[in-house]
Amino acid sequence: MVTASTKEAQEGGESSYDRKSELKAFDDSNLGVKGLVDAGITKIPRIFINEQNKLDMSSNNPHLSVPIIDLESFDKDAVVRAEIINQIRDACKKWGFFLVINHEIPESVLSEMIDGIRRFHEQDGEAKKEWYTRDYSRKVTYSSNFDLYQASSTNWRDTFACTLAPDPPQPEQLPAVCRDILMEYLKHVRRLGFSLFELLSEALGLHPNHLKNMECAEGILLLGHYYPACPEPELTLGTSSHTDADFITILIQDQMGGLQVLHEDQWVNIPPISGALVINVGDLLQFVSNGNFKSSEHRVLAKNVGPRISVACFFRKIIPVENTTRLYGPIKELLSEDNPPIYRQENFPNEYLMHYDSKGLDGTSSLLRFKL
Ligand code: OGA
Ligand code: NI
Repeated sequence: MVTASTKEAQEGGESSYDRKSELKAFDDSNLGVKGLVDAGITKIPRIFINEQNKLDMSSNNPHLSVPIIDLESFDKDAVVRAEIINQIRDACKKWGFFLVINHEIPESVLSEMIDGIRRFHEQDGEAKKEWYTRDYSRKVTYSSNFDLYQASSTNWRDTFACTLAPDPPQPEQLPAVCRDILMEYLKHVRRLGFSLFELLSEALGLHPNHLKNMECAEGILLLGHYYPACPEPELTLGTSSHTDADFITILIQDQMGGLQVLHEDQWVNIPPISGALVINVGDLLQFVSNGNFKSSEHRVLAKNVGPRISVACFFRKIIPVENTTRLYGPIKELLSEDNPPIYRQENFPNEYLMHYDSKGLDGTSSLLRFKL
């Protein structure tokens, strides 16, 4: 019989026990990674050391670059729209990642959103602590590493999280330092989300409203990440390799760089381009598109300069896992005798989401367990 304690002993016994108490002490500080940096540490605590990271730092092939798609006139000119749809299809099949420019969200809104997240993380520690929690059923949270107690190494970042849709928070539920810009950004990102789901539907050969009608654009979870400068960046990661648990992600990154996508077994830098947004396919879209569109692994390197700030919006309807409201399968119109379903659909996405949250960002895909 394998009991919890024999399992622990097999996995490294005492050191895994130590790790737990170090994680708990870090968590109990309620001040995240920024708290460590503010306290003046010069060596990173061992909970952050990522063995895997050492092996594959040989990153970035400079000859490869993520597609940049210009959305100018996508809704005004049919010829331009058809060309944009082709580019999106190509990017989603080959990369699962692309940048968009001329997406109609003013650059001033993007930079104010980044600044709002900076203000949240850089406010007085006592005020910020009030938001610290691991109760992710709350609409607004601040914590460090949602998978702190599951992951084999801790990431060098703190995160503000807010469920913006389908039921937007009341302004007074939001921290005053970023309240206005959150409500403003929500309007813009929602509109862009709708447009992208139309283009993605068409790129799959479906009616423009198909993905919207599946409620892919209904839910938005915003994560405002803060990656402090790291004294030993080669020993850890800002965000370890993962795929996203959503249909698509719309991401603003600041000018620091560090985001990479795994493409044909090589890590490729996603360049910070001011005014551009990063769009990526998540596991739910890979699933419903029956593997047509790819949810690629990506990660963020830690750096000795910082902070780096990013704001990710995850499009997925938040399904109360214990209370099934909507199940998904590969889209019927995409299946044929030559294209049989590659995933089983029982209990998707509930079982998928539970698995994703329980294992944390460990570089393995939660979709694998659904593969037929
Ligand atoms: C994420 C993510 C990248 C970044 O939140 O899932 O991949 O640049 N973020 O912070
Ligand atoms: Ni991600």
